[in-house]
Amino acid sequence: MARIGVLTSGGDAPGMNAAIRAVVRSGIAAGFEVAGFRHGYTGLIAGDWRPLGPREVGGVMHLGGTMLGTTRCETLRTEAGRAQALRSLETAGIAALVVIGGNGSQTGAHELARQGAPVIGIASTIDNDLYGADVTIGATTAVDVALQSIDRLRVTAASMRRAFLVEVMGRDCGYLALTAGLAGGAEAIVVPEEATDPATVAEELRAAYARGKSHAIAVVAEGAAHDGDALMDYFRAHRERLGFEMRLTKLGHVQRGGAPGAFDRMLGTTLGAAAIDAAVGRRYGRLIGLRDGKPAETALDEVAGKTRRADVRLLELARVLAR
Ligand code: F6P
Repeated sequence: MARIGVLTSGGDAPGMNAAIRAVVRSGIAAGFEVAGFRHGYTGLIAGDWRPLGPREVGGVMHLGGTMLGTTRCETLRTEAGRAQALRSLETAGIAALVVIGGNGSQTGAHELARQGAPVIGIASTIDNDLYGADVTIGATTAVDVALQSIDRLRVTAASMRRAFLVEVMGRDCGYLALTAGLAGGAEAIVVPEEATDPATVAEELRAAYARGKSHAIAVVAEGAAHDGDALMDYFRAHRERLGFEMRLTKLGHVQRGGAPGAFDRMLGTTLGAAAIDAAVGRRYGRLIGLRDGKPAETALDEVAGKTRRADVRLLELARVLAR
C-alpha cells in the first residue's frame, strides 16, 4: 500500500491539527497508509516517524499547536540536510509528503521538490503572508486572540485615559496588525507595508483625545520600520509635549497557541482533504491554499521565497472609522 508522509513545520498555527486529521483520514479513505514525521523537517531528516491511523488523530481538532511537533530546521537549508531528507523519504517508502507550514517551510518544500521529491504543501501560518493563499491556516484565530487583548486594553485605556501601543506578530507582513486594528477599532495602525513616522502616530492618538475619545490605541506590527519599542522611545522623549501617557503591550507568542476557531478548523479540514486529492492525482510541487473561497493549487515555484503583503487600502478605511 502506498504511504503518504505528513509533517508540520515552522511556527505552529491553530488549525494545523485539523489539517493533519484530514490528511490522515482522507488519505486512508483514498487507500494510503499515513506516516507522521515528528518535529517537522528535523524528524524527516532523522527518519523519525510513526504510523497514523484514524484513532491517532482523534480528539485533536479543537487544540491549538500541532500534535506532531514542529521546528525551524536549519539543517534543511544545507545541501547535506536536503540529501538526507531525500534518503529518509525513500527509506520510509513515502509516495507523497504533505508539508503543513508557512513561508520558510514551503521554501524548504520547494527545494525538495526541485530535487524530485513528491511534495505537496498546505498553507499554514498565523502571518498570512503566503502567495497562493488568500488566508492561511491559523491567521483568523490569531486575530481573534489579539482582539481579546485589544478589547481588554481598551477598558483599561478608557478607565485611565491612557494610550496603548499593542504590538502584534506577523514577521514582515502587516496582516495581523491591520486586521486586528480594524476589527479592534484602533485609532492608529502601523504596518511594514507603509512607512509611518512616530510623529504621525502620536498625532493620530492625540487627535483621538481631541475628538472626545476616552482612549487611544495603536496596533503595531512587529515588522514595521517603527515597531513597539521604537514608538515607545519617541513617546518617552516627547511625553511633555504630547500630553498623554503611553504603555506598550507586546502580545508575542500568546497569539499563536489559541484554540482554533471554526474557520481554521474548516480550513485545515478542507485543505488537508485537497492535499490528498493532489496526491491521488500525483500533482506534486504544489501549495494547497484557499483562493476565492475554494482550495486551489499553486506551483511552489511561484510561492517560494516570497512574502505576500497586507492590503494597505484598508488603512484608509481604518482612518475613516477611527473618527
Ligand atoms: O511565523 C510565525 C511567527 O509567529 C511570526 O509572526 C513571528 O515573527 C515568528 O513566528 C516568531 O518565531 P519564533 O516562534 O521562532 O520565535
